[in-house]
This record gives sequence, structure tokens and C-alpha cells, in this order.
Amino acid sequence: MRVVLVGPPGAGKGTQAQFLASHLSIPKISTGDIFRDNVSRGTGLGQRAQAYMERGDLVPDEVTIAMVTDRLQEDDAQAGFLLDGFPRNVPQAETLKKLLAGWDNRLDVVLELVVDDDEVVRRLSGRRTCRRCGRVWHATFDPPARPETCDDCGGELFQRDDDRENTIRHRLEVYQQQTALLISYYADEGILLGIDATGPVDEVTDRALAALRRFMR
Ligand code: AP5
Repeated sequence: MRVVLVGPPGAGKGTQAQFLASHLSIPKISTGDIFRDNVSRGTGLGQRAQAYMERGDLVPDEVTIAMVTDRLQEDDAQAGFLLDGFPRNVPQAETLKKLLAGWDNRLDVVLELVVDDDEVVRRLSGRRTCRRCGRVWHATFDPPARPETCDDCGGELFQRDDDRENTIRHRLEVYQQQTALLISYYADEGILLGIDATGPVDEVTDRALAALRRFMR
């Protein structure tokens, strides 16, 4: 199954991606995670992406598209994938469509996680991420048993640089100006499915799985 998750910053894409990918036995491909990994390792890709990410702007398409094109050609993505954070604008969506068509493939479904801006700010201001395994937590809504320590692997939790209030607001503007256009783009393609992404994490996962099963080939 080939799935795209779309929704504003903090909608829960990364949180749901980790559970959905595991349920569907497909790899989760998160462009944000790949960029952050490259930034922390100081690679050339990380150096190109870092300033854009710190401002909350999109990394230029040529950089992002080259990275995703490489990732989609890896063995584990041949039978399907779940994309989290890509595409992020219409040119990226057009490129993905052409890329998949060139491999005799297409997306099955684009799942939109619907939440309002107030909830986004509540979620992002309490987000904590594990430095070792990448698991996402929330200081209030989904806290680990020991503060600042990942229950899964014992790694240290950190707060993302782009989760400061001003940057959150800018990321929401960027979402409205560029990414929200994808909602009508994929609705026109007939593969958009929106779900209410509020409520407990496991209930959102159940809702998402029920929705995705309707699109399984
Ligand atoms: P990216 O990492 O993709 O950030 P984003 O889209 O802004 O999304 P977030 O990761 O902030 O939120 P999320 O929806 O994954 O929410 P999460 O599950 O963590 O991108 C970062 C940057 O990289 C971009 O700004 C850009 O610079 C660059 N980039 C990435 N892709 C790009 C592209 N394609 N093109 C160009 N540039 C690109 O949840 C948030 C919090 O809420 C967590 O604490 C979680 O525990 C909590 N939570 C989740 N679900 C619930 C729930 N149901 N109830 C209560 N709390 C919940």
C-alpha cells in the first residue's frame, strides 16, 4: 500500500505514522526525520537543510525531491510505503506522481489528519522526541514513565528547535500557503480521505486504520 499522511504541523503525522506503518508492514518515510538525522550528523544534506528548518520554511524542492527519490528506490519501499511530510506542495506532489507512474505505480490514498490550530499549539509546545530511537512523546498528553527518558529505549528526550512559539506560527502559515493546496489537489484525484485526528492517540490510530482498509487493493 502506498500512503501519504498530510496535515498541519503537530497534527500527529509522526505519531500515527509509527503505528500505522507497523500495522501495515510498510516502511515509514518521514522527510523531517531524515533531515533532522542529517543535521545531527552534520552531513552536506543536513547543512543545506538546517537554516530552512530552523526558520520553519520548506527546504528547497530540488534538495527534498532528490532525497525522497533515492529513498523510494530502496528495497524496503518496493512493496509500499507511508510518507510523512512529503509531498509538501503541489510541485512535490506532481513529481511524486510522475516518479511512481514511471515505476508503474500510483498512490493508493492520502490520509488527512484534521485538527485545529489551538490543538496544534498545545501539542507542539509539549512535544518531546527520543534522541536515540525517534519515538515521539508529549509532556502532558503522552508522557513517558520517567521524565525526559524514552520508555521504549531509555534514550534522552529533547525538544525540537522549531517548536518555539514564533516558529510554530510561521510553520502554520507555510502550511496554509503551500501545503493546504494539496487537500484539493488530492480530492480532485479521488484519493483524499480526511479523519478527525483529535482524541486519544490509539483512537485516532483505529480511525485511521479503518479508513485505510477501505482503500487497500
Ligand atoms: P516535519 O518534521 O515534517 O514537521 P511538521 O510537518 O511540521 O510536522 P511535525 O513533525 O511538527 O508534527 P506531526 O504532525 O508529525 O506531529 P507529531 O506526531 O510529532 O518537518 C520539519 C521541517 O523539515 C519542515 O519545517 C521543513 O523545514 C523540513 N521539511 C520536511 N519535509 C519537507 C518537505 N517535503 N519539503 C520541504 N521541507 C521539508 O505530534 C505532535 C505532538 O502531539 C507530540 O508531542 C505527540 O505526542 C502529540 N500528539 C500526537 N497525537 C496526539 C493526540 N491524538 N492527542 C494528544 N497529543 C497528541
